[in-house]
Amino acid sequence: MLNATDTLEIKITRSATPRLATTDFSNLAFGKTFSDHMFVCDYIEGEWTNFQILPYGELPFSPAISALHYGQAFFEGLKAYNHPNGKVGIFRPYKNAERSNRSAERLSMPTLPEEIFVQAIAQLVDLDREWIPSQPHHSLYIRPVMFATDAALGVQPSSTYKFVVLTGPTGPYFSKNLKVKIETTFSRASEGGFGFAKAAGNYAGSLLPAREAVKEGYDQLIWTDAKNHEFVEELGAANVMFVINGKLVTPSTRDTILKGITRDSVLTMARSWGVEVEERRISVAEVIACIADGSLTEAFGVGTAATIAHIAEIGHEGTVYTLPDVAGREISNRILKTLNEIRSGLAPDEFGWNYLI
Ligand code: PLP
Ligand code: COI
Repeated sequence: MLNATDTLEIKITRSATPRLATTDFSNLAFGKTFSDHMFVCDYIEGEWTNFQILPYGELPFSPAISALHYGQAFFEGLKAYNHPNGKVGIFRPYKNAERSNRSAERLSMPTLPEEIFVQAIAQLVDLDREWIPSQPHHSLYIRPVMFATDAALGVQPSSTYKFVVLTGPTGPYFSKNLKVKIETTFSRASEGGFGFAKAAGNYAGSLLPAREAVKEGYDQLIWTDAKNHEFVEELGAANVMFVINGKLVTPSTRDTILKGITRDSVLTMARSWGVEVEERRISVAEVIACIADGSLTEAFGVGTAATIAHIAEIGHEGTVYTLPDVAGREISNRILKTLNEIRSGLAPDEFGWNYLI
């Protein structure tokens, strides 16, 4: 058992052809640029082993691995930021470690000790720390992924797995305020399913509905419950929040909703400012009625990749509703500013969220 004070022994093979000096940091599309190294380890005979940092590159595996056939795979997402004092802050990595294990359990995959998850990331980020961009709203995106590697076509949990961590410099996922559609045909997750897990399959199922929405002129979808499409659940790959009558309102988490770490950070900050917070079911009818009577003044997505993504327009059953001007939105703009400052070491880390290396 690895404790926080023990160092995870990782075999490091440095890249012989580093790409840092030739990478263009001025135009970073999300998830397309990868740093020089990756972390890889294996789950074999009931234990995690072969901890390695390797040059970023291809991995050999059989075309029969069960991750490909039956989707035994999940991922995580977190970010690291340069601080003015030369340190690097990884934002709340233990929260991702915890959630990763919830995903693993639901998908019949092995859990990974939190200390291994965090130290693997910390040592990888430290090695590639020069890849962390310093422009405003930029960071190093960290993508842990676990997948089943048994070459066997029986539908049963694999006995072997790989856990891999990739990193890459990135800017904000959304480059503009969003026009979103309330989805009332397709569903992202259903009760008893695994919407709360970051299962790869959840994202595969979201692609067609999202593409249909784009064809209709929207940027993203607001997912609603699978039973009656009556209640708001999430916004694309982010949690969703509204300001209604000055209160910060967000869907309460359940098995169809991913328990976002940004969501938790935003609610914690807002409560500390004395903003009233409500975590409860929010009906589509309430959202539409509150836009119409002017009591809904702000709407936004919150997530690691999304950061704080303002919603400018909401479409429902063919009608598009325009929300108040983004520049005048007090709560979400304050959240965006303060969260950025805390993560980048520009404001006191009063909640102890930054893991410094
Ligand atoms: N909901 C979904 C479906 C997501 O994919 C994400 C992204 O990770 C979130 C919510 C936000 O979670 P977090 O703030 O932990 O990134
Ligand atoms: C993240 O915010 O880390 C996510 O996982 C969203 C991603 C699917 C773009």
